[in-house]
Amino acid sequence: MATQNQTADASEPKAAVKKGGILDKHKVLEKNATLLLACSFLAVTVGGIVEIAPLFYLENTIEEVEGVRPYSPLELTGREVYIREGCYVCHSQMIRPMRDEVERYGHYSLAAESMYDHPFQWGSKRTGPDLARVGGRYSDEWHVDHFTDPQSVVPESVMPKYAFLKDRLIDGAHIDELMSVHAFVGVPYTEEMIETAKADFKVQTDPFGDIDGLLERYPGAQVRNFDGEPGVSEMDALIAYMQMLGTLVDFSTFEADASR
Ligand code: HEC
Repeated sequence: MATQNQTADASEPKAAVKKGGILDKHKVLEKNATLLLACSFLAVTVGGIVEIAPLFYLENTIEEVEGVRPYSPLELTGREVYIREGCYVCHSQMIRPMRDEVERYGHYSLAAESMYDHPFQWGSKRTGPDLARVGGRYSDEWHVDHFTDPQSVVPESVMPKYAFLKDRLIDGAHIDELMSVHAFVGVPYTEEMIETAKADFKVQTDPFGDIDGLLERYPGAQVRNFDGEPGVSEMDALIAYMQMLGTLVDFSTFEADASR
């Protein structure tokens, strides 16, 4: 130790090792384990409070992005089917900001894009591709064929068949309750949205219906008969959900706000 100190002293500028200098004072801390522990604890506490306390006052830590809105009743139902069928076991919904991902899937995912997802669908495994921006990539017919028999369109696919979804007709009987639950955990569904949920659910598959209200409540909602069959089926709901994924934000005008 002594020799080490001597060599250090010789190379250090005079001021730093002057008796009574700042380093000398620090020595007191370094030589007293209890004092060092107490001061470390104090430093960590202050640092922790500075970082954590503001989070309690901020309403939202997610940057607001234009275009992001809660799911329409039909899309939300499709999302339920997605969760029920365990699609997340093979598919993620989060494009990471790495070059290979951005080139394959499109703009990296923004926090705001999954802010109304309860539970989130980021996923941790990709047996199949990421689906965060699958909306608009394929036609509805492609999705019907693919869900009915994935190998008919992608011969080497290991994805299971979901043909039965076409035969499962649904009427959105409990969609308002589901939306109330989402409202309870923070999704900004209004009273009006919950009241009109059942009608909005039906009208989204009916291009000849009165869709003005739906489009006002859920801007950009796509309205058509998704599976091409009469009635609203789980296939309709799932494809409505697929086709809107990643389409809400217009990335031709989006600019990340680095100041937030
Ligand atoms: C066993 C794993 C597995 C499960 C479960 C699974 N998929 Fe897939 N999925 C794949 C694989 C592998 C591919 C790529 C080959 C293909 O297109 O079929 C794929 C492709 C897709 C594609 C096309 C994506 C693209 O960009 O080409 C969509 C959409 C899709 N899956 C949706 C779903 C939905 C919705 C479910 C649940 C109903 C689901 N998948 C369940 C494995 C799976």
